[in-house]
Amino acid sequence: MTAILIVLPGQQFRGTIAVPGDKSISHRALLFGALAEGETHIRGFLDSEDTEATCGCLRAMGVRIEQDEIVRVHGVGLHGLHPPGELLWVGNSGTATRLLLGILAGQPFSATLNGDPSLSHRPMDRVAIPLRLMGAQVEGRGDRCTLPLTIHGGKLQAIDYASPVASAQVKSAVLLAGLYAEDVTSVTEPRKSRDHTERMLRGFGVEVEEEGLTVRVRGGQRLIGRSISVPGDISSAAFFLVAGAIVPGAEVTVTGVGINPTRSGVLDVLRAMGARLEVANARVESSEPVADLTVKYGRLTGTTIRGDLIPRLIDELPVLAVAAAFAEGTTVIADARELRVKESDRIVTVSRFLRDMGARVEEREDGMIIEGGRPLHGTTVDSDGDHRVAMSAAIAILAAGAENRITGAETIATSFPTFVSLLRALGATVREI
Ligand code: S3P
Repeated sequence: MTAILIVLPGQQFRGTIAVPGDKSISHRALLFGALAEGETHIRGFLDSEDTEATCGCLRAMGVRIEQDEIVRVHGVGLHGLHPPGELLWVGNSGTATRLLLGILAGQPFSATLNGDPSLSHRPMDRVAIPLRLMGAQVEGRGDRCTLPLTIHGGKLQAIDYASPVASAQVKSAVLLAGLYAEDVTSVTEPRKSRDHTERMLRGFGVEVEEEGLTVRVRGGQRLIGRSISVPGDISSAAFFLVAGAIVPGAEVTVTGVGINPTRSGVLDVLRAMGARLEVANARVESSEPVADLTVKYGRLTGTTIRGDLIPRLIDELPVLAVAAAFAEGTTVIADARELRVKESDRIVTVSRFLRDMGARVEEREDGMIIEGGRPLHGTTVDSDGDHRVAMSAAIAILAAGAENRITGAETIATSFPTFVSLLRALGATVREI
């Protein structure tokens, strides 16, 4: 097990960085590229353990993927996947698992998926239920249909699915299965989740209809290979944006960050907290809005984060909770029960490390209440196998100026292998043990 020791930055925390490519978009570019006819070229691909899992699964089903500066996916078409000769290893990745299940539902073969202990606790019934309604057989463990899981695909029928959760993974799984069904499949969500699937499928030539919270796709549409440029991941940038706001004297610019409105809730919250945030050079690349973001240190105040905002910043809540601990006044996070089924139960794990550092945090069934402004001190934080917990704790430590230890930090490679080197580039002293 790796631990990293973080020491107070010797000089100021300042500079300009670019973060790696968006994880959600990188997974989709691989998967849709595999189902397309012809080659797909991906620039700015996120090279990480999670996306490597998707690559491995696709290769096991006969897809050729060349990984270089540009990733080249040799598409096999909607019906060109081969039965995997081996178990599909999805590692820590919920996105790989759930989106692959949508695709596997439409294949004339069976496949078994397995992953690490964290993923094996996460509910897969949320995709198994609609995929069974469409005609696939899904066999997992227990009520929540957890991994290891076997799916027997086959002929599918279209459904109109009202999802009980706002989840882009569920929406995407049903839409992907819908490509294999006759007729039109629709998914309606309680709140709008990230729309990368809709945007990217259109780029591959698929007609996708959106009406309010409902998305529809007609089966049998072909995907045509294309070039994709992946923007920087706002979920990774968020650690540095929050650091910019709370590390005394900091000023951080992150260039080329995806600011898709279904993902940019973190910017709205930082603004509501009074952060000195500037958005520059806004542009659109591969149907996704992108900009350069700068945050300067300043006084933050508490805020309320709930409702439609939640799916727009679900992965950023751990680091926003850190920002809240450094803000004046109370921050309320509500309607965020989904935090309990992420890579860890993030209501428990985030509250725990903040409390261990001296913050006042109350856990609620669907969120937490953070009384900010208390001085934080050093402690040992365990990642609990959750990359975003480890990185959020690193930012809290940096801002507290405390010397601290994070155990289980190897999990950071799940989504952000260059995190530590970027911290160092901005002036932090980080020792890896
Ligand atoms: C993702 C969707 C979100 C998010 C996850 C990536 C995606 O999960 O938390 O990190 O790529 O579709 P849910 O769909 O479960 O909300």
